[in-house]
This record gives sequence, structure tokens and C-alpha cells, in this order.
Amino acid sequence: MKRRNSLQQQRSSRWRIKVLLMVLLLVLCFLLMLNHYRYTQTFKFNMPEAPALAVVNKPKIAFLFIARNRLPLDFMWDEFFRGEKEGKFSIFVHSRPGFLLNEVTTRSAYFYGRQVNNSIQVEWGESSMIEAERVLLKNALMDPLNERFLFLSDSCIPLYNFSYIYHYIMSTSTSFIDSFADTKEGRYNPRMYPTIPGYNWRKGSQWVVLTRKHAEVMVNDDTVLPEFQSHCRRKSLPEFWRDHPLPVDGSKEHNCIPDEHYVQTLIAQKGLEGEITRRTLTHTLWDLSSSKDRERRGWHPVTYKLSDATPMLIKSIKSIDNVYYETEYRREWCRSQGRPSTCFLFARKFTRAAVIRLLNMSALVVN
Ligand SMILES: *[C@@H]1O[C@H](CO)[C@@H](O)[C@H](O)[C@H]1NC(C)=O
Ligand SMILES: *[C@@H]1O[C@H](CO)[C@@H](O)[C@H](O)[C@H]1NC(C)=O
Ligand SMILES: *[C@@H]1O[C@H](CO)[C@@H](O)[C@H](O)[C@H]1NC(C)=O
Repeated sequence: MKRRNSLQQQRSSRWRIKVLLMVLLLVLCFLLMLNHYRYTQTFKFNMPEAPALAVVNKPKIAFLFIARNRLPLDFMWDEFFRGEKEGKFSIFVHSRPGFLLNEVTTRSAYFYGRQVNNSIQVEWGESSMIEAERVLLKNALMDPLNERFLFLSDSCIPLYNFSYIYHYIMSTSTSFIDSFADTKEGRYNPRMYPTIPGYNWRKGSQWVVLTRKHAEVMVNDDTVLPEFQSHCRRKSLPEFWRDHPLPVDGSKEHNCIPDEHYVQTLIAQKGLEGEITRRTLTHTLWDLSSSKDRERRGWHPVTYKLSDATPMLIKSIKSIDNVYYETEYRREWCRSQGRPSTCFLFARKFTRAAVIRLLNMSALVVN
């Protein structure tokens, strides 16, 4: 009797251990699935049929370059993209129609064939710029793994390596769009009313980062863009076309600068401002002093040349941790992942010689 009892006890304790192991395994599976679910939710993966524990593809950042012809800084981007980053980025370039990126026009294989084949002729600063941006977005949206859409000019440089930039951008589910109420007289054209009421009129920079949702909003927009095409035109100051003038004279002629109002106004119109971080990640230095002719005087972006390319310059841009929005008396302290952080991941405008020097001095480390 005693022996049988102890045998039974032994059996039942073994059985209990087995049950315990099973329960543990189930809990583990459940936790894994929960984790995976949260992950896919955060990044809104577009793969509903995939089994729960399949290998998941990384979400990608689409680098969207707006260039005139060649990419003068392709050698630096080549270094930036090199390494274990496959599957985390894609590249699209909008150049003049007919331009091809190949062994002849670029030294970087990352750019071979990456120009979009339906590009348009862009007048810098005109609404054709918005159309070029839409062409880039349409191409990039075809890849369901592209989750962020980042606009860059041909004179932009990254201030950090790929992994730093990737995590900074991916750590929030918002777009990065600097956007502020534009109260300057002469830029809002009342003819846009009532389609675009004055209270939705915004200004900012065209160098934005969009989420997939906002990229789709921009590509599908058929109300705001037509208004811009008819009523938002840049005042004719031909020598400044490339350089975004904001004339300080009190002229009544509308000087709207489409690409500095469009995304911002569109997002306000659609009631999506709660889904954006209201700043740009691309640093631009504006210079008011460079023209002596009062009539022609305007803000334009500084181009950093060889002699400006010093470690101090890069250090000072990287150390900026707040931005002041004059029209709103608002100072924005930059944050990332819940902590105070530097504001800028990119900077413009840099000449090829300046970048070569910065890399040579290790003032700029992009990989
Ligand atoms: C442009 O490229 C797309 C995708 O690569 C392709 O499907 C399309 O046929 C091309 N269009 C032209 C006009 O070459
Ligand atoms: C990337 O840059 C960050 C910040 O400068 C640095 O902490 C990190 O070690 C770098 N990562 C790689 C893989 O080089
Ligand atoms: C920087 O330039 C100098 C002179 O042109 C050259 O000798 C040196 O190897 C370069 N250094 C790097 C790190 O590229």
C-alpha cells in the first residue's frame, strides 16, 4: 500500500511538472505573439496574411532626392548607405526628365536606375516642385515596406550615421513637418477662400519627413493642390528662383512660395496636425544681408563653401536643441524618445568641395 502510494505520488508530481511546463510554454507563446502584435501595430505593417511568428521585414525609410541633374554629393551618400543597412532604406531621385543615373552619371551603385521615370520639369520654388514631390511619393508608395518618406535636396548632408537617423525617425509615429501660422501680409491669397480658409494657412519648409498615411494624403489630394496651382504663385525675382526669397518690402503682389506652404496647409486642412512633430529635421541658415539692392533684398539659404567647412560649423549645427517660431512667439525644445535631443539630422546647403573637406577632417562622420 505504501509503495503504491509513493509510486502514485511520483507519477502525479511528474505529471504536475509536465503541466507546469506546458503552461509556461503557452504563456511564452502568448507573450511572443503579443509582442509581435504590438510591433506590427506600431509600424502599421502591410502584411495581414503573414503568420504571426514569421520573419518580419524591417520598415524602410524612403530617401527622396530632388535634384537638378547629377547628385554632386553621391560619394558621401555612398558612404552613408554602405554597410549592414540593406532592407532598411530605399532611394528615389527626381531629376530633369530624361536624366539617367548610371555608371556614367554617378559613381555610387546605390543610385543606378533610381531616378523616377515619370519626372517633370521643375521650376525651383513653383508649384511644379509639389508635383515633383508627388511623383516621388507615388513611386515610393509602391513598396509597401516604405514607412517614412524623407525629402532631401541635392545639397543636403546627413549629420549622423544611418542607424542614428533611422532610430530617431522611427521612434515616433509622427511626421516631421515644421508648420506655423503664416500671418505675413501678401502670402495668403484671399481667392483661395473658402476652399482654403485663412485659419488653415500655414508655412514651413519643404524638407519634411512623412508617414505613410500622410504620404498617401498628399498623393490623393485633389482639392488643395488645384488652389495652389491657380492662386499661389511666386513673385518674379528670377535670380532668386532657386533660393526661396521672402522679400521684406511691403509690396502687395502675392508672393506665395508654393512648396513652403503646401504640405503644412494640406495637413491643417485635413485636421491631421495632431499627428505631426512640428519641426523640420533639416537645418538651413538664412541670410538677409547678402544683397545691397533694397528692391532685391531677400532671405536666402547660405551655401557652405570650402572655406566654411570646419569642424566647428558641424558641431554648432549639431548642438542646436531648440527652435524659435517668431510668428507664434513659440520656442520648441527638441525631443526624441521622450528625452531632450538635438533638433537636426540633416543640413543644407553644402558644396562638393566643402563635403570632401569635412569628411577628410573627420568633422563629418556618416558611417
Ligand atoms: C516606369 O517604371 C515603372 C516601375 O519601374 C514601370 O512599371 C513603368 O513601365 C515605367 N514607365 C515607363 C514609361 O518607362
Ligand atoms: C552612430 O552614431 C551614433 C551617434 O553619433 C553613435 O553613438 C553610434 O555608435 C554610431 N553607430 C554606428 C553603427 O556607427
Ligand atoms: C585628407 O587630405 C590629405 C591631403 O589632401 C590627404 O593626404 C589625407 O590622406 C586625407 N585624409 C583622409 C582621412 O582622407
